[in-house]
Amino acid sequence: MSLPLTANHPTLNARRMDGVLDWAQMLTGVGLIAFMWAHMLLVGSVLLSPEIMNSIAAFFENSGMAQVGGPLIFALFLAHFVLAARKIPFRLEGQKTIWEHAKLIHHADTWLWVVQAASAMVILIMGAIHMWAVLSDLPIVALKAAETLQRNKWWLAFYLLLAPLVHVHLGIGLYRIAVKWGFAGRAERRGLKRFATLIVLVSVGISVLTLFRFWFMVA
Ligand code: HEM
Repeated sequence: MSLPLTANHPTLNARRMDGVLDWAQMLTGVGLIAFMWAHMLLVGSVLLSPEIMNSIAAFFENSGMAQVGGPLIFALFLAHFVLAARKIPFRLEGQKTIWEHAKLIHHADTWLWVVQAASAMVILIMGAIHMWAVLSDLPIVALKAAETLQRNKWWLAFYLLLAPLVHVHLGIGLYRIAVKWGFAGRAERRGLKRFATLIVLVSVGISVLTLFRFWFMVA
């Protein structure tokens, strides 16, 4: 028996479109996860030596990859937000309902979703500020980054907040992608959670060490 086509039963086309947008959301998310890990290793190369970080940055700038890639990453970042925003309640009423449900059903994955949606808002604003600050002041030089952080402690606080938020958001994203798209069944969820937690801890560790390397760098 076919269902009546009301607001509660979207048409086949609408459902197909929603599926396509879900895929696009996942692919932009995977792209950003890959970018952020590469970014963490490139900026984190300062831990090996500032010269290594400078040469990597110079390679990206001289080949034009920073100038072209930077705005492309920015576009990917915005596209991912717009796609994910379809699921986020922006009205207080909707937010209250999600909060009540999360409290009521005591389901860890629902809480993870709440953390992911809330961190997304902060990352959107802070990530945009950061990309603007870096890309409008090329070239990237380790000592210049260090001086900015040392001159204005707010930048250090800014990154100390942004880094954990980003990596927690990525870790939850990784977990949700694996569960939602069937890469991990119910039996694997616990192991997957441990793996994602480990990745988050290692990434936050590298990022915090990187920030302190900048903080203590002398000319
Ligand atoms: C457009 C491409 C990007 C470039 C060229 C870039 C470049 C840089 C550079 C050079 C630093 C060192 C500090 C500084 O100079 O201010 C840095 C640090 C940082 N960036 Fe980015 N960034 C980009 C995108 C992003 C995005 C999308 C995020 C996350 C939303 C992000 C998060 C961070 C964080 C948290 C730090 C602190 C250090 C660390 O965690 O490794 N960046 N970035």
